[in-house]
Amino acid sequence: MLDKLQALESAALADLQSAQNEAALQEWKVKFLGRSAELSRILDELRGLPKEQRPAVGRRANEVKGALERAYQGRLEGARSAALDRTLREDRLDVTLPGATFPLGRLHPATQTLRQIYRIWAEMGFQVYRSPDVETEEHNFELLNMPAHHPARDMWDTFYTVDPGVLLRTHTSPGQIRVMRERAPEPIRVILPGMCYRYEQVSPRSEVQFNQVEGLAVGRNITFADLKGTLTAFARRFFGQAVNTRFRAAYFPFTEPSAEMDVECFVCGGEGCPVCKRTGWLEILGSGMVHPIVLQNGGYDPQQYSGFAFGMGPERITMLKHGIDDIRGFWANDLRFLEQF
Ligand code: FA5
Repeated sequence: MLDKLQALESAALADLQSAQNEAALQEWKVKFLGRSAELSRILDELRGLPKEQRPAVGRRANEVKGALERAYQGRLEGARSAALDRTLREDRLDVTLPGATFPLGRLHPATQTLRQIYRIWAEMGFQVYRSPDVETEEHNFELLNMPAHHPARDMWDTFYTVDPGVLLRTHTSPGQIRVMRERAPEPIRVILPGMCYRYEQVSPRSEVQFNQVEGLAVGRNITFADLKGTLTAFARRFFGQAVNTRFRAAYFPFTEPSAEMDVECFVCGGEGCPVCKRTGWLEILGSGMVHPIVLQNGGYDPQQYSGFAFGMGPERITMLKHGIDDIRGFWANDLRFLEQF
């Protein structure tokens, strides 16, 4: 039996020399150290040997097992490090090769304008206040001094929902009431940006959905001079210090007096051209002193408080800035249009 173990050890070690990789080593392990290997069988059958042979054969069998396991481990580590060396040698990575480029998205032109508007108003101390797109008729009209059947409601072609008294806001002005009711009697300096919806004939100048940025300042001594000064400062920061502005009397039910602000046409410099319809001026926003009834509806005593408000259309402003002649490009999702900005 001892001779048999000796022969087995020599044969196994010789066989191990020819196993060159991990897979071959695994096969070798199954063959010589696995459950049905000859060595396992000898160990299992120890009990059947005559008593006086058992200790010597048992010891020798365990020695052979230990020797084979150690030899296997040594070979395995050798094979692994050889494989690693080969990978490092052969699979060299050239980090200077240009990578695959991913197409980069960009900000929508309306978003770019909106962010510029936010930044300028933030520098002037105005916070952003968000109010809902789906509004009540009460906030969109009634509380803004337009009772039911008031003809001024015709200024806004409205999408009504199936729920009575619920509509898609036609302008951001209902947010004025919400912010006033939340903050009264504190002073207010906010802008209210958001999407507005109008049941309008879509045309190169008008969409059924578009952004507005509303502004509202309420305090104890706010005058029309503050409105003019603040809006002029905004226009200078947005369009450039040299821009000329003018105010024209206008009408909105929720402001009194009301005015629209024009900037000098930057396409023709005021000479008159097709963009400004030969007037030399471009309208950019509606504004006015908050109507006493609106202040009252917001929870401010009009005897003690006053305020100004304005509303501008970022898409129209973007059109003016980039000479875009059709507003429909903004929401048509045509990359040929969007990639220009
Ligand atoms: C208003 O909506 C008033 N709420 C603005 C206001 C606020 C006045 C606070 C006084 C005080 P108007 O309907 O003119 O006003 O719209 C304001 C701006 O929204 C317009 O100057 C224009 O830039 C933009 N706008 C209006 N309708 C459309 C449309 N269909 N498509 C794109 N932009 C539009």
